[in-house]
Amino acid sequence: MNFEFQNPTHLIFGTGSITKLGEATKRYGKKALIVTGGGSVKRNGTFDKAIASLKTTGIQYVECTGIEPNPRLSSIIRGRDIARREKCDVIIALGGGSAMDAAKAIAAAVLYNGDPWDMFFHGQQNQYFPTEAMPLIAIPTLAATGSEMNCGAVITNEESKIKSFVQVPCLYPKVALVDPELTVSVPKDQTAYGVCDIITHITEGYFNGVDDTPIQDRFAEGAIQTVLEYGPKAVENGNNIEARTQVQWASIVALNGWVQSGTNGGYPVHMIEHALSAHHDVTHGAGLAVVNPAWMRFAAKNRPAKFAQFARRVMGITEKFANPLDLANAGIDKFEEFLRSIGCPTRLSELKIGEELLEQYAKDALQVLKDENGCLPARPPMTKEDIVSMLRTAL
Ligand code: NZQ
Ligand code: ZN
Repeated sequence: MNFEFQNPTHLIFGTGSITKLGEATKRYGKKALIVTGGGSVKRNGTFDKAIASLKTTGIQYVECTGIEPNPRLSSIIRGRDIARREKCDVIIALGGGSAMDAAKAIAAAVLYNGDPWDMFFHGQQNQYFPTEAMPLIAIPTLAATGSEMNCGAVITNEESKIKSFVQVPCLYPKVALVDPELTVSVPKDQTAYGVCDIITHITEGYFNGVDDTPIQDRFAEGAIQTVLEYGPKAVENGNNIEARTQVQWASIVALNGWVQSGTNGGYPVHMIEHALSAHHDVTHGAGLAVVNPAWMRFAAKNRPAKFAQFARRVMGITEKFANPLDLANAGIDKFEEFLRSIGCPTRLSELKIGEELLEQYAKDALQVLKDENGCLPARPPMTKEDIVSMLRTAL
């Protein structure tokens, strides 16, 4: 194992922590651009709580509302222009991963004179890697992406239908203000998709990483088991604050870099799902619920022992099997059953996706990320044909 780890985000976690927004913001600016989604924060009172706290420290604000799920490049340009025109000096993201990712991209775009799409790799000669961004305070209202404590942002170019990512240190939020109470209004379906997203962030590193990472394996297994326990409770009763709290914490742990440290794994399931959601605007976590089990069955053949470990330690399979691959597949079946039990789709047809564009999704995923042999980085690396045939099994 060879790795470096640094996460500079100041995490403030706990029920009621939204009241600390004014104090947290004061350290970074006087006039905030507040970035929100389609209106949930206005309907459920979260926006009013945020404003009440900002008033206590005299922070002024303007808004960039209407960030769509799977946020689009045009929204980044709109937000950038508002921040420049209004001379904002700090950005507050209040919403799900989409609002947070848009806020990150806006934070970097404000300080860049070129096209914001230059930041997102899509096959161009010279990718622009931002080294500076406006200070950002991230307040998640949905437990899923962990964007509040990582330095990634995922944006869709709605014209080319490419969904790509940027991941650079200057995009770490200065503060992640995480108040699980803000998530009680998340509907059952979005809660379930969030649970799937959290688990998938962990399985990506667990299955695609290098060998011999026993400490990371145990972190990963413990975090997934916690989500398997509390996720269904949060879906069942959205007001269960204990369940909301554990799922929210898990969403941060799953993608703030710690669980993955040293594994050096790829994100094939994410890269393939992003291609699907770019074309069909499906919810990210729902797309993952379809792709992840199909990808696991594909990858288990290459590395049955690791998938057998998952079956035993995470999915609790105790029966004896003739060989590790049978055990591995029993674990994957049980994982898929779990996803269905909380209301996730597990077939492309449930997302109203047919076989017409399978090649296109594979091409698009490889346009965003490929290794020196032209394959999607993963274990095993995936060719275009591998991606197509894997997706075919999910129809
Ligand atoms: O838009 P509003 O009205 O706020 O409603 C949202 C949206 O309809 C709603 N919602 C959020 N909080 C709510 C709520 N409804 C009621 N009560 C609340 N408290 O939920 C819907 C989905 O919101 P969205 O932000 O799109 O969901 P999510 O957090 O799953 O974010 C998904 C986006 O993040 C990207 C995905 O690709 C996708 O674009 N990702 C970002 C990552 C990162 N930066 O680290 C990693 C992920 O793997 C992922 O790729
Ligand atoms: Zn994800």
